[in-house]
Amino acid sequence: MTRRIVCIGGGGHAVVVIDTLQAIARAGADVELAGFTDETGAAQPVLGVPCIGTDADLPRLAAAGRLTHFIVAVGSTRADSDLRARLFEAGKAAGLEPFAALHPAAIVAGSATIGVGTVVMAGAVVQPRAVIGRNVIVNTRAAIDHDCRIGDHVHVAPGAVLSGGVRLEDGCHVGTGAVVVQNLRIGRGATVAAGATVIRDVAAGAMVRGTPAR
Ligand SMILES: CC(C)(COP(=O)(O)OP(=O)(O)OC[C@H]1O[C@@H](n2cnc3c(N)ncnc32)[C@H](O)[C@@H]1OP(=O)(O)O)[C@@H](O)C(=O)NCCC(=O)NCCS
Repeated sequence: MTRRIVCIGGGGHAVVVIDTLQAIARAGADVELAGFTDETGAAQPVLGVPCIGTDADLPRLAAAGRLTHFIVAVGSTRADSDLRARLFEAGKAAGLEPFAALHPAAIVAGSATIGVGTVVMAGAVVQPRAVIGRNVIVNTRAAIDHDCRIGDHVHVAPGAVLSGGVRLEDGCHVGTGAVVVQNLRIGRGATVAAGATVIRDVAAGAMVRGTPAR
């Protein structure tokens, strides 16, 4: 059965999510990108995909059979908000299933586990036995090495590198180009700044930056 997907959000991150879904469709998956929602409900199309309303319209569109699945297409630059988690719950409350989007140019090991609603962007690599939670962003060219454990609503930003066995708790943000060395734990809702090199565990809610990260 065709999965009719809505992207929740129409900003910069949504452009990449939409492109990822279009690549998945071109690769032959039975998916249809029905549109995106935003706060106005009347935004201009993005990559040819129409705005079909606001988040408040989702239950009606789902009930009418126009949508079956959703993906949260709102990004983040730090772990200072639960917006992405709330949008995930709103999509489910509307009666839609979360869609996991794996770009055909991502490499995901057969023994890795990818949670519902998670997006893995082009050039990302997810290595064996990694376990990735729900509504996670594994952004462009990010590397998740073997045995990493990633919670829900996490953002691993473009080019970030997690060495083997790293644990990211729910809602973390690992910034663009950051490096986390092996077997460390980044606590719930912590932020790792862009370009940081993390060599010690990071406490929940903390923000660390620099090399070595403090
Ligand atoms: C760490 C971060 C969240 C801090 O944001 P902020 O609180 O708005 O920071 P500010 O720009 O006010 O800077 C505060 C201080 O931190 C420093 N700083 C900011 N970002 C830094 C970084 N990535 N590495 C090292 N130092 C940094 C600033 O130079 C400034 O230092 P000063 O007080 O000595 O002048 C942000 O800079 C960052 O790196 N976010 C990640 C971006 C990302 O991953 N984007 C992905 C989008 S897809």
